[in-house]
Amino acid sequence: MKTDLISNDIQLDSSGKLIHLLGLKGLSKNQLTRILDVADNLIDDQGDLKKSKALDDMSVANLFFEPSTRTRNTFEIAAMRSSANVINVDLANSALKKNEDLLDTMHTLQAMQIDMFVIRHKQSGLPHYVAENISNIAILNAGDGINAHPTQALLDMLTIRQHKQNFEHISVAIVGDIVHSRVAHSDIQALKTLGTTDIRLIAPTGLQYHDCNSQCIDNIEIGIKDCDVIIVLRLQKERMLEADIPNEQEYFDNYGLTPERLALAKPDAIVMHPGPINRGVEIDSSVADGNQSVILQQVTNGIAVRMAVMEILAGKS
Ligand code: NCD
Repeated sequence: MKTDLISNDIQLDSSGKLIHLLGLKGLSKNQLTRILDVADNLIDDQGDLKKSKALDDMSVANLFFEPSTRTRNTFEIAAMRSSANVINVDLANSALKKNEDLLDTMHTLQAMQIDMFVIRHKQSGLPHYVAENISNIAILNAGDGINAHPTQALLDMLTIRQHKQNFEHISVAIVGDIVHSRVAHSDIQALKTLGTTDIRLIAPTGLQYHDCNSQCIDNIEIGIKDCDVIIVLRLQKERMLEADIPNEQEYFDNYGLTPERLALAKPDAIVMHPGPINRGVEIDSSVADGNQSVILQQVTNGIAVRMAVMEILAGKS
Protein backbone atom coordinates (compact mmCIF):
# COMPACT_ATOMS: atom_id res chain seq x y z
CA MET A 1 0.00 0.00 0.00
CA LYS A 2 1.26 3.51 -0.76
CA THR A 3 2.21 5.01 2.58
CA ASP A 4 0.25 8.22 2.04
CA LEU A 5 -2.93 6.12 1.83
CA ILE A 6 -2.37 4.60 5.27
CA SER A 7 -4.70 6.23 7.76
CA ASN A 8 -4.11 6.53 11.50
CA ASP A 9 -7.71 7.56 12.23
CA ILE A 10 -8.43 4.39 14.16
CA GLN A 11 -5.84 5.29 16.80
CA LEU A 12 -8.19 7.83 18.39
CA ASP A 13 -11.56 6.93 19.88
CA SER A 14 -14.65 9.07 19.30
CA SER A 15 -13.64 11.41 22.15
CA GLY A 16 -10.14 11.91 20.70
CA LYS A 17 -8.39 9.68 23.25
CA LEU A 18 -5.36 7.71 22.07
CA ILE A 19 -6.18 3.97 22.03
CA HIS A 20 -3.41 2.74 19.69
CA LEU A 21 -0.14 4.33 18.57
CA LEU A 22 0.07 3.68 14.84
CA GLY A 23 1.76 6.86 13.65
CA LEU A 24 2.16 10.53 14.50
CA LYS A 25 0.11 11.87 11.59
CA GLY A 26 -3.20 13.01 13.06
CA LEU A 27 -1.84 13.73 16.54
CA SER A 28 -1.86 17.33 17.75
CA LYS A 29 1.00 19.34 19.22
CA ASN A 30 -0.67 18.99 22.63
CA GLN A 31 -0.86 15.22 22.32
CA LEU A 32 2.82 14.93 21.34
CA THR A 33 3.86 17.34 24.09
CA ARG A 34 1.87 15.38 26.65
CA ILE A 35 3.67 12.12 25.75
CA LEU A 36 7.03 13.93 26.05
CA ASP A 37 5.98 15.41 29.43
CA VAL A 38 4.93 12.02 30.80
CA ALA A 39 8.25 10.56 29.58
CA ASP A 40 10.18 13.42 31.20
CA ASN A 41 8.46 12.72 34.50
CA LEU A 42 9.74 9.16 34.35
CA ILE A 43 13.33 10.44 34.42
CA ASP A 44 14.71 11.72 37.74
CA ASP A 45 16.97 14.76 38.29
CA GLN A 46 20.09 12.58 37.91
CA GLY A 47 18.88 11.40 34.50
CA ASP A 48 18.00 7.93 35.81
CA LEU A 49 14.79 6.15 34.87
CA LYS A 50 12.14 5.76 37.53
CA LYS A 51 10.04 2.64 38.09
CA SER A 52 6.28 2.71 38.03
CA LYS A 53 3.43 0.42 39.05
CA ALA A 54 1.12 1.77 36.35
CA LEU A 55 0.85 -1.43 34.29
CA ASP A 56 0.91 -3.99 37.13
CA ASP A 57 -2.30 -5.63 35.92
CA MET A 58 -1.30 -5.74 32.25
CA SER A 59 0.46 -8.06 29.81
CA VAL A 60 2.37 -6.87 26.77
CA ALA A 61 3.41 -9.03 23.80
CA ASN A 62 6.35 -8.05 21.60
CA LEU A 63 5.81 -9.23 18.04
CA PHE A 64 8.93 -8.43 16.03
CA PHE A 65 8.79 -9.83 12.51
CA GLU A 66 11.99 -7.91 11.61
CA PRO A 67 15.34 -7.77 13.42
CA SER A 68 15.71 -5.25 16.23
CA THR A 69 18.05 -4.57 19.14
CA ARG A 70 17.11 -1.17 20.52
CA THR A 71 13.39 -1.05 19.91
CA ARG A 72 12.54 -4.58 21.02
CA ASN A 73 14.69 -4.54 24.14
CA THR A 74 13.65 -1.05 25.22
CA PHE A 75 9.97 -1.96 24.77
CA GLU A 76 10.63 -5.00 26.96
CA ILE A 77 12.50 -3.00 29.60
CA ALA A 78 9.86 -0.25 29.48
CA ALA A 79 7.04 -2.76 30.04
CA MET A 80 8.95 -4.30 32.96
CA ARG A 81 9.76 -0.89 34.52
CA SER A 82 6.04 -0.09 34.38
CA SER A 83 5.39 -3.44 36.15
CA ALA A 84 3.69 -5.20 33.20
CA ASN A 85 4.21 -8.83 32.30
CA VAL A 86 5.94 -9.01 28.94
CA ILE A 87 6.46 -11.82 26.48
CA ASN A 88 8.64 -11.80 23.38
CA VAL A 89 6.73 -14.00 20.98
CA ASP A 90 9.11 -16.41 19.27
CA LEU A 91 7.82 -15.79 15.76
CA ALA A 92 10.48 -17.89 14.07
CA ASN A 93 9.05 -20.94 15.85
CA SER A 94 5.39 -19.94 15.99
CA ALA A 95 2.36 -21.47 14.30
CA LEU A 96 2.76 -18.84 11.58
CA LYS A 97 5.40 -21.22 10.23
CA LYS A 98 2.60 -23.81 9.95
CA ASN A 99 0.65 -21.35 7.77
CA GLU A 100 -1.56 -20.03 10.53
CA ASP A 101 -3.22 -16.79 9.46
CA LEU A 102 -1.68 -13.75 11.14
CA LEU A 103 -5.00 -12.67 12.64
CA ASP A 104 -5.56 -16.16 14.07
CA THR A 105 -2.18 -15.90 15.78
CA MET A 106 -3.17 -12.47 17.14
CA HIS A 107 -6.56 -13.73 18.37
CA THR A 108 -4.81 -16.68 20.02
CA LEU A 109 -2.48 -14.34 21.88
CA GLN A 110 -5.42 -12.16 22.86
CA ALA A 111 -7.08 -15.23 24.35
CA MET A 112 -4.00 -15.47 26.60
CA GLN A 113 -5.19 -12.16 28.13
CA ILE A 114 -2.60 -9.96 26.44
CA ASP A 115 -3.54 -6.27 26.63
CA MET A 116 -1.06 -4.70 24.21
CA PHE A 117 0.69 -5.81 21.06
CA VAL A 118 3.93 -4.14 20.05
CA ILE A 119 4.35 -4.89 16.35
CA ARG A 120 7.25 -4.47 13.95
CA HIS A 121 6.74 -5.72 10.40
CA LYS A 122 8.31 -5.17 7.00
CA GLN A 123 4.90 -4.45 5.48
CA SER A 124 3.80 -0.81 5.70
CA GLY A 125 0.35 -0.61 7.28
CA LEU A 126 0.43 -4.03 8.98
CA PRO A 127 -0.14 -2.67 12.55
CA HIS A 128 -3.07 -0.64 11.19
CA TYR A 129 -4.56 -3.79 9.65
CA VAL A 130 -4.29 -5.61 12.98
CA ALA A 131 -5.84 -2.65 14.84
CA GLU A 132 -8.76 -2.64 12.40
CA ASN A 133 -9.38 -6.35 12.81
CA ILE A 134 -8.89 -6.99 16.52
CA SER A 135 -10.83 -5.22 19.22
CA ASN A 136 -10.05 -4.45 22.84
CA ILE A 137 -6.30 -4.58 22.52
CA ALA A 138 -3.90 -1.66 22.13
CA ILE A 139 -1.58 -1.80 19.12
CA LEU A 140 1.78 -0.05 19.22
CA ASN A 141 3.62 0.37 15.95
CA ALA A 142 7.32 -0.43 16.47
CA GLY A 143 8.14 0.24 12.81
CA ASP A 144 6.12 -0.75 9.73
CA GLY A 145 8.00 -1.01 6.43
CA ILE A 146 8.99 2.42 5.23
CA ASN A 147 5.89 4.03 6.71
CA ALA A 148 6.32 5.06 10.34
CA HIS A 149 8.22 4.51 13.57
CA PRO A 150 6.32 6.70 16.02
CA THR A 151 8.07 5.81 19.28
CA GLN A 152 11.50 6.39 17.67
CA ALA A 153 10.38 9.85 16.55
CA LEU A 154 9.03 10.59 20.04
CA LEU A 155 12.30 9.58 21.68
CA ASP A 156 14.11 11.71 19.12
CA MET A 157 11.88 14.68 20.03
CA LEU A 158 12.49 14.11 23.74
CA THR A 159 16.24 14.10 23.10
CA ILE A 160 16.04 17.31 21.06
CA ARG A 161 13.91 18.95 23.76
CA GLN A 162 16.50 18.05 26.42
CA HIS A 163 19.19 19.93 24.46
CA LYS A 164 17.40 22.76 22.68
CA GLN A 165 15.11 25.42 24.12
CA ASN A 166 12.30 25.07 21.62
CA PHE A 167 11.29 23.40 18.36
CA GLU A 168 10.26 26.60 16.57
CA HIS A 169 13.65 28.23 16.09
CA ILE A 170 15.91 25.28 15.40
CA SER A 171 17.15 23.92 12.11
CA VAL A 172 17.22 20.16 11.76
CA ALA A 173 19.19 18.32 9.08
CA ILE A 174 18.28 14.72 8.27
CA VAL A 175 21.07 13.09 6.29
CA GLY A 176 21.08 9.81 4.40
CA ASP A 177 18.67 7.22 3.09
CA ILE A 178 15.55 9.26 3.75
CA VAL A 179 13.29 7.59 1.21
CA HIS A 180 13.50 4.19 2.92
CA SER A 181 13.51 5.52 6.48
CA ARG A 182 10.36 5.17 8.56
CA VAL A 183 12.28 7.02 11.28
CA ALA A 184 12.79 10.05 9.02
CA HIS A 185 9.16 10.01 7.93
CA SER A 186 7.96 10.05 11.55
CA ASP A 187 10.62 12.58 12.60
CA ILE A 188 9.54 14.98 9.85
CA GLN A 189 5.91 14.60 10.94
CA ALA A 190 6.76 15.20 14.61
CA LEU A 191 8.99 18.20 13.93
CA LYS A 192 6.35 19.85 11.76
CA THR A 193 3.66 19.30 14.39
CA LEU A 194 5.92 20.71 17.10
CA GLY A 195 6.64 23.82 15.05
CA THR A 196 10.00 23.30 13.33
CA THR A 197 10.00 24.95 9.92
CA ASP A 198 13.69 24.66 8.99
CA ILE A 199 13.93 20.96 8.10
CA ARG A 200 16.65 20.05 5.61
CA LEU A 201 16.56 16.67 3.90
CA ILE A 202 20.05 15.85 2.69
CA ALA A 203 20.43 12.86 0.38
CA PRO A 204 21.64 11.81 -3.06
CA THR A 205 18.84 11.96 -5.62
CA GLY A 206 18.02 8.22 -5.46
CA LEU A 207 17.56 8.29 -1.68
CA GLN A 208 15.71 11.60 -1.42
CA TYR A 209 12.16 11.87 -0.13
CA HIS A 210 10.13 14.75 -1.43
CA ASP A 211 8.18 16.39 1.30
CA CYS A 212 6.56 19.70 0.65
CA ASN A 213 7.65 22.22 3.30
CA SER A 214 11.08 20.63 3.77
CA GLN A 215 14.14 21.66 1.78
CA CYS A 216 15.64 18.85 -0.32
CA ILE A 217 19.41 19.29 -0.66
CA ASP A 218 21.94 16.99 -2.31
CA ASN A 219 25.05 18.60 -0.83
CA ILE A 220 25.87 17.84 2.81
CA GLU A 221 28.20 20.83 3.25
CA ILE A 222 25.46 23.23 2.21
CA GLY A 223 22.76 21.31 4.05
CA ILE A 224 24.26 21.13 7.53
CA LYS A 225 25.61 24.69 7.61
CA ASP A 226 24.64 26.35 10.92
CA CYS A 227 22.10 23.70 11.83
CA ASP A 228 21.25 22.78 15.45
CA VAL A 229 20.46 19.09 15.08
CA ILE A 230 21.80 16.47 12.65
CA ILE A 231 19.97 13.17 12.36
CA VAL A 232 22.09 10.63 10.48
CA LEU A 233 20.53 7.59 8.84
CA ARG A 234 21.88 4.20 7.78
CA LEU A 235 21.72 2.98 4.18
CA GLN A 236 18.79 0.58 4.50
CA LYS A 237 20.08 -1.89 1.95
CA GLU A 238 17.41 -4.46 2.79
CA ARG A 239 14.89 -2.08 1.22
CA MET A 240 16.93 -1.32 -1.94
CA LEU A 241 17.29 -3.15 -5.22
CA GLU A 242 20.78 -4.63 -5.56
CA ALA A 243 21.57 -2.31 -8.47
CA ASP A 244 20.63 0.79 -6.45
CA ILE A 245 22.88 0.11 -3.46
CA PRO A 246 25.48 2.88 -3.40
CA ASN A 247 29.18 2.10 -3.14
CA GLU A 248 29.94 2.55 0.58
CA GLN A 249 33.25 4.39 0.13
CA GLU A 250 31.75 6.75 -2.42
CA TYR A 251 28.77 7.32 -0.16
CA PHE A 252 31.04 8.10 2.81
CA ASP A 253 33.12 10.46 0.67
CA ASN A 254 30.02 12.39 -0.39
CA TYR A 255 27.62 12.11 2.55
CA GLY A 256 29.48 10.66 5.57
CA LEU A 257 29.35 12.84 8.67
CA THR A 258 33.01 13.61 9.37
CA PRO A 259 34.45 16.00 11.99
CA GLU A 260 35.20 18.52 9.20
CA ARG A 261 31.59 18.50 8.05
CA LEU A 262 30.23 18.58 11.59
CA ALA A 263 32.28 21.76 12.15
CA LEU A 264 30.01 23.50 9.62
CA ALA A 265 27.00 23.11 11.92
CA LYS A 266 26.48 25.28 15.01
CA PRO A 267 29.17 24.62 17.65
CA ASP A 268 26.52 23.19 20.00
CA ALA A 269 24.80 21.08 17.34
CA ILE A 270 23.84 17.59 18.48
CA VAL A 271 24.40 14.45 16.41
CA MET A 272 21.65 11.84 16.48
CA HIS A 273 21.22 8.41 14.88
CA PRO A 274 18.42 5.87 15.46
CA GLY A 275 20.94 3.02 15.14
CA PRO A 276 22.21 0.63 14.14
CA ILE A 277 25.16 2.78 13.04
CA ASN A 278 27.49 1.73 10.26
CA ARG A 279 30.82 3.33 11.12
CA GLY A 280 32.74 4.62 8.14
CA VAL A 281 29.64 4.49 5.92
CA GLU A 282 27.23 7.21 7.07
CA ILE A 283 29.20 8.43 10.09
CA ASP A 284 32.83 8.66 11.09
CA SER A 285 33.66 6.78 14.30
CA SER A 286 35.06 9.90 15.95
CA VAL A 287 31.75 11.71 15.39
CA ALA A 288 29.65 8.77 16.57
CA ASP A 289 31.68 8.65 19.78
CA GLY A 290 32.36 12.39 20.01
CA ASN A 291 31.07 14.87 22.56
CA GLN A 292 28.30 16.18 20.29
CA SER A 293 26.85 12.69 19.86
CA VAL A 294 23.67 11.94 21.83
CA ILE A 295 23.15 8.51 20.26
CA LEU A 296 23.23 6.56 23.52
CA GLN A 297 21.05 9.11 25.28
CA GLN A 298 18.47 8.42 22.55
CA VAL A 299 18.53 4.75 23.56
CA THR A 300 17.85 5.54 27.23
CA ASN A 301 15.13 8.02 26.29
CA GLY A 302 13.51 5.23 24.30
CA ILE A 303 12.67 3.47 27.56
CA ALA A 304 11.01 6.54 29.10
CA VAL A 305 9.04 7.30 25.94
CA ARG A 306 7.83 3.70 25.57
CA MET A 307 6.81 3.59 29.24
CA ALA A 308 4.92 6.86 28.71
CA VAL A 309 3.11 5.65 25.59
CA MET A 310 2.08 2.35 27.18
CA GLU A 311 0.87 4.10 30.35
CA ILE A 312 -1.14 6.63 28.33
CA LEU A 313 -2.70 3.90 26.18
CA ALA A 314 -3.64 2.01 29.34
CA GLY A 315 -5.30 5.16 30.69
CA LYS A 316 -2.85 5.20 33.62
CA SER A 317 -1.10 8.51 32.84
C1 NCD B 1 15.55 1.97 12.77
C2 NCD B 1 14.45 1.11 12.20
O1 NCD B 1 14.37 -0.09 12.47
O2 NCD B 1 13.66 1.69 11.49
N1 NCD B 1 16.19 1.52 13.90
C3 NCD B 1 15.59 1.56 15.14
O3 NCD B 1 14.43 1.26 15.31
N2 NCD B 1 16.34 1.99 16.16
C4 NCD B 1 16.49 2.48 11.74
C5 NCD B 1 17.28 1.51 10.91
O4 NCD B 1 17.07 0.30 10.94
O5 NCD B 1 18.16 1.99 10.19
